[in-house]
Amino acid sequence: MAERTLDGGVASRSSRSTASPMALFFREFLRHPAMIGSIIPSSRRTIEAMLSDVRWDETRLFVEYGPGVGTFCDTILERLSPDATLLVIDTNPVFVDFVRRRYADSRFIAVHGSAADVQDIIATHGFESADYILSGLPFSTLPAGVGARIAEQTFAALSPGGSFLIYQYSPNVLRLLAPHFTRVDRSFEWFNIPPCHLLKARKPAEP
Ligand SMILES: C[S@@+](CC[C@H](N)C(=O)[O-])C[C@H]1O[C@@H](n2cnc3c(N)ncnc32)[C@H](O)[C@@H]1O
Repeated sequence: MAERTLDGGVASRSSRSTASPMALFFREFLRHPAMIGSIIPSSRRTIEAMLSDVRWDETRLFVEYGPGVGTFCDTILERLSPDATLLVIDTNPVFVDFVRRRYADSRFIAVHGSAADVQDIIATHGFESADYILSGLPFSTLPAGVGARIAEQTFAALSPGGSFLIYQYSPNVLRLLAPHFTRVDRSFEWFNIPPCHLLKARKPAEP
């Protein structure tokens, strides 16, 4: 049976089922393989490695692209200051509906939309810029042109000194970052399915 989702879309009855996060993630992967790009959520090791350099006490706005079932959200909310905000953006309304129900936290905002519109989205929620933007997007399988627009929009949306944190199965995304970010630190995480590249691209601080 079809039902209204919180953002006005229509969800099937099963999207509001009591399926575990893992089962829901896998089911959505089968429905949208190119947009999700992975059969299971990221590992604990990937979460720790991606968030290891974040300066939580200086973070006012943390943005996450493609939260899925909220794999990173628990850890981000645990570490985020009481007056800071975690704003997540996902194109899949089933995931957006799921994380809105999962995180009853006044610091948490879930937006049904595309990372390609991040500047408008953060402005709509009263922010000028983001201190960190974390991405689990499958850049290699996004529609043509979307990855380049996301890289451009992300650079513009970051505060000076802010960082774009990316985990990715292919390093090809470096080509999209190159026109904007001059410094990208790289590492690799074997304990993830599949193993992935970890990229941390920093926007220069203003002189
Ligand atoms: C590999 S999953 C990552 C899930 C989760 N972050 C994790 O680590 O387990 C990719 C996510 O990106 C979302 N996505 C794909 N294209 C997007 C876009 N243009 N903007 C925002 N989210 C997008 C998908 O719906 C999916 O939730």
